Amino acid sequence: MLFDFATLPRDKRAKLLLSTVVPRPIAWVTTQDEAGQLNAAPFSFFNLLSTEPPVLGLGIAPRGAGRKDTAANIRAGGEFVVNLVSAALAQPMNVTAVDFEAGTDELATAGLHPAASDTVAPPRIAETPVALECRVLSLTELPSGSLIVLGSILALHIDPARLLDAERCHVDTPSLDLIGRMHGAGWYAHTRPAGLFEMPRIQPAALAPAQTPGPR
Ligand SMILES: Cc1cc2nc3c(=O)[nH]c(=O)nc-3n(C[C@H](O)[C@H](O)[C@H](O)COP(=O)(O)O)c2cc1C
Repeated sequence: MLFDFATLPRDKRAKLLLSTVVPRPIAWVTTQDEAGQLNAAPFSFFNLLSTEPPVLGLGIAPRGAGRKDTAANIRAGGEFVVNLVSAALAQPMNVTAVDFEAGTDELATAGLHPAASDTVAPPRIAETPVALECRVLSLTELPSGSLIVLGSILALHIDPARLLDAERCHVDTPSLDLIGRMHGAGWYAHTRPAGLFEMPRIQPAALAPAQTPGPR
C-alpha cells in the first residue's frame, strides 16, 4: 500500500513515520538560556551524520506558535550537550520531557546533577554514560517552524568503566545499555545483548559470480 505524502494529512504522515522509522536514538540535550538557567529535554529526531568532521543532527518541533526552550537556547547560545540515555535513566529522561515553564531546572526536578563541560558552556548530565559537547554548525528553520540543528561534536565524555581499552578507543557498547524510541506515545527499545546479532561486512571476492556487482 502506498501513502502519498503530497495528499496525506500531517497527523497521518507523522503516525506513519514515527511508527516505522525505529528505533531512534535519543539525544538528551542540555542547554542554557542567556541567564545561565539550565534546561534538559529528550529528542529522538537525532543521529550521528558524519565522523569526519564529527557532526550530529537534531530536529526540534515548534511549540504552538513559539519555540521549545532547547531550540531557543541553541539559537541564542550556539552550544549544547547531547547526553545519551541508558535504561537506568529512562524514567528521569521522561520527567524532563514534561512541558515545564521556561526557567524550570528540569535536571533537579528529575533528581539529576550537572557536571561541568570542557569545551562548551552548558553542563552535561553527570549520571549519563556518554555525553557529546557540541557547537552549532548550521540551523535551518523549516516552514513548519521545526528547527534542524547540525552540531559539530567538539568532545566526548564517557564513563571510564565503559571502556575496554582507552588507548585504542575500544568501548564496551552493550554495557552502555542505551535505549531507543519506538512507536506510539511510550514504547522504547533496549540495546541489550539478547537483541544483538553480528554480521561481518562482505568482501566482494567472497560473493558467488552471479551475486558479484558488475560494472554499471
Ligand atoms: C523520548 C522522547 C523523544 C522526543 N523527541 C522529540 C523530538 O525529536 N523533537 C521534538 O521536538 N520533541 C521531542 N520530544 C518532546 C520534547 O522532549 C518535549 O517537547 C520537551 O518538553 C521539550 O523541552 P524544552 O522546551 O525544555 O526544550 C521527545 C520526547 C520524548 C519523551
